[in-house]
Amino acid sequence: MKPGMSLMKHYLQFKDLRAEEYAYLFERTAIIKKRFKNYEKYQPLTDRTLAMIFEKASTRTRVSFEAGMYQMGGSVVHLTTGDSQLGRAEPVEDSARVISRMVDLVMIRTYEQSKLEGFAAHSRVPVINGLTNEYHPCQILADIFTFIEQRGSIKGRTVAWVGDGNNMANTWLQAADILGFTLHVSTPRGYEIDAKVAGVSNKDCVQVFKRPLDACRGAHLVTTDVWTSMGYEAENEARQKAFADWCVNREMMAAAQPDALFMHCLPAHRGEEVEAEVIDGPQSVVWDEAENRMHVQKALMEYLLLGRIG
Ligand code: CP
Ligand code: NVA
Repeated sequence: MKPGMSLMKHYLQFKDLRAEEYAYLFERTAIIKKRFKNYEKYQPLTDRTLAMIFEKASTRTRVSFEAGMYQMGGSVVHLTTGDSQLGRAEPVEDSARVISRMVDLVMIRTYEQSKLEGFAAHSRVPVINGLTNEYHPCQILADIFTFIEQRGSIKGRTVAWVGDGNNMANTWLQAADILGFTLHVSTPRGYEIDAKVAGVSNKDCVQVFKRPLDACRGAHLVTTDVWTSMGYEAENEARQKAFADWCVNREMMAAAQPDALFMHCLPAHRGEEVEAEVIDGPQSVVWDEAENRMHVQKALMEYLLLGRIG
């Protein structure tokens, strides 16, 4: 950690920040995005380095962190399991001790949340979750910023989650608890969300529905994700059968609010978790959602490294 920095913060799950910190981050994101759109240089992270560790594949997370860090004047180091000692069983604690002596910030995409936590516990610098089996906080940060951009505050609104009770669903649940909206959830039997994993205190922020159509009723945002997440490929065949009715279609969008948005973290499989006419239709904001990954993460990196500006 650079001298002069006070309390070091990690971003390992959505509940690591409070509602008022999110309000600040969303304000900063809007400012940072506007500067980017106006081609204004903004380089508060000159001479800072971000290490990005990928133990799973990525397009958006890699490009958004890498481009974002360069735009802010910093640089990045990209590591994968295959081309580093992580793939040859060097303990994660040792990797953390070494890497965090040389860089200012670390982003990790891995399997178990416990591995990310093990790294963070031995890191001298802030660590960001770039997706684990349990959570994907940077994605929900982008999704909520996208909602606010399009429709205003998410407080008191209803978000419908259709599909797997996975890392995205757990993170939506934490976000509902912290930011005060309701999550309608419909998952196939055997793929339910586990409130214990999400660790939410307020049970009122979630309502569970058997049928996906019922979960979409009255929703301001309908969202879904792949049937088979990274790391669960062995279950693919069983999942294809179990999830067949959890495909967001026109009927589900019609049951939501007339101006409901559709989001998907991507990559998407048209004809599986979502019909092409929905993801490519007028209510879909998936391309803004993907772009906003970069803007929110720039605000997050600025916050973790420099604290509040102004
Ligand atoms: N949504 C998301 O995290 O995409 P990538 O897997 O491409 O990074
Ligand atoms: N739930 C998906 C999200 C991909 C961005 C996965 O973990 O593979």
